[in-house]
Amino acid sequence: MKPEIIVALDYDEFEPAAEIVKNLGSSLEWYKVGLELFVSAGPRIIEFLKENDKKIFLDLKFHDISNTVKKVSLAALKYGANIVNMHASGGVGMMKETADAVSEYCVKNNTAKPMLIAVTLLTSLDESYLKDNKLNFASTDDYVLHLAKEAKRSGMDGVVSSAKETPLIKKELGSEFITVTPGIRPSFASTDDQKRVVTPKDAKAMGTDFMVIGRPITKAEDPVWAAEKIKEELI
Ligand code: C5P
Repeated sequence: MKPEIIVALDYDEFEPAAEIVKNLGSSLEWYKVGLELFVSAGPRIIEFLKENDKKIFLDLKFHDISNTVKKVSLAALKYGANIVNMHASGGVGMMKETADAVSEYCVKNNTAKPMLIAVTLLTSLDESYLKDNKLNFASTDDYVLHLAKEAKRSGMDGVVSSAKETPLIKKELGSEFITVTPGIRPSFASTDDQKRVVTPKDAKAMGTDFMVIGRPITKAEDPVWAAEKIKEELI
């Protein structure tokens, strides 16, 4: 199904994360493990997801010198994550060296290559970030598009972006270039602390490939009901 729903497991320990995965059962397939859960629970949560035949977005947002990001990305391959990400602002050299090394390793070892996704501009940052850092872009959209272009020419498979940026990214970089989109709020859910939200239906219309959804599912009274309702919204 496109877009796929990825449940954000934003927990600080293993048990509640495992509990929600078990509770959702066969309703949903994809889960995002971010820094908080990975640092708190360790690789055990990844093993648990694999044992339960789930697909994994390892959201650790690597950003370091090229050699380090290349090596940590190769180390991450052992988890069998389906999506791994890094910051586009780490530069073309960092992304390209990593993409080349990961592709080479996967071909050599006959293993599936994870999708390599670049984080463009964090949505917590705005025009003042461009100004403060003397980045000469007319708008955050221009900067996001610039970073997405850098990611593509480095051999990355796609970017994390807001749904609103997706049509421009797809238009400029092609429909095959993947977009992963947080900030999604189904019509029945509260917006929580998200400021610029998009409904699943609108995100689909904008061409998003993967929607990251956390609290509307994980904090719902009935997470299975919430997941099914979101799927309905996508039809
Ligand atoms: O609960 P909620 O649906 O808001 O969770 C969204 C998830 O996506 C969280 O893990 C959050 O950290 C992540 N995210 C985001 N906005 C970004 C990047 C990541 O909400 N720009």
